[in-house]
Amino acid sequence: MIDMHVHILPGVDDGAKNVQMAHDMAGRAADAGITFIVATPHVYRAEDQQRNRGSLRIARSIAHEFGLGLNMGCEFNYRAFHDVSLQAMNAFCLSGTRCILIEFSSSELMPRWDAVLSELMDAGYLPIIAHPERYAYIQRDLGIASEMRDLGCELQVDACGLMAPMMSAERRTARKLVKEGMAAYIASDAHRPEDYDDFEKAQKIFRGEWPRNNRLTDALRAQKKERANDGQ
Ligand SMILES: [Fe+2]
Repeated sequence: MIDMHVHILPGVDDGAKNVQMAHDMAGRAADAGITFIVATPHVYRAEDQQRNRGSLRIARSIAHEFGLGLNMGCEFNYRAFHDVSLQAMNAFCLSGTRCILIEFSSSELMPRWDAVLSELMDAGYLPIIAHPERYAYIQRDLGIASEMRDLGCELQVDACGLMAPMMSAERRTARKLVKEGMAAYIASDAHRPEDYDDFEKAQKIFRGEWPRNNRLTDALRAQKKERANDGQ
């Protein structure tokens, strides 16, 4: 199983504070049945990704200790659209695919969001919207999430959103997105080892509805096949 949204790189953002914490997170991920992690540190400006890459080698060797694969991605904040050209967007994709994880504002729907996402898709990228359940405008109107899907984007729900406090808009929205089959991914969005508690609880509750078919999985399978063919 893939966890495609994890803040495991030690010391780079609000995720793993140090190597020990990254180690503990990898252990919890392995216990939860995860076999491959995409490290998704925050990117608010273009240069953030260069800083993030410095910790990749360390995180990868930690993951290997637990038999986990690990590759680089990022959580691309909408504010960074001003800073990165379409051509340069490749550096921010998940694990060498054309999938890109995008975080929007939690309070205000980005102006021209549909035009920006369409431009990305026209350039061959596959936008995945990070935790739509957190966005107030989607909590109020799930139709916006449907529009994002209709446009060609995929939606990623956080396990901690599914396990958010009872009666919260975040929990209600996350659960609806999964139950109605609108979510293509459930990810941990783990920032610390304990965040895998929610991931494991969500796995139990949503076992039958856990999304398995999505573009990232397809792209990673294709990559693997290509590598195997190259090795022949
Ligand atoms: Fe995140």
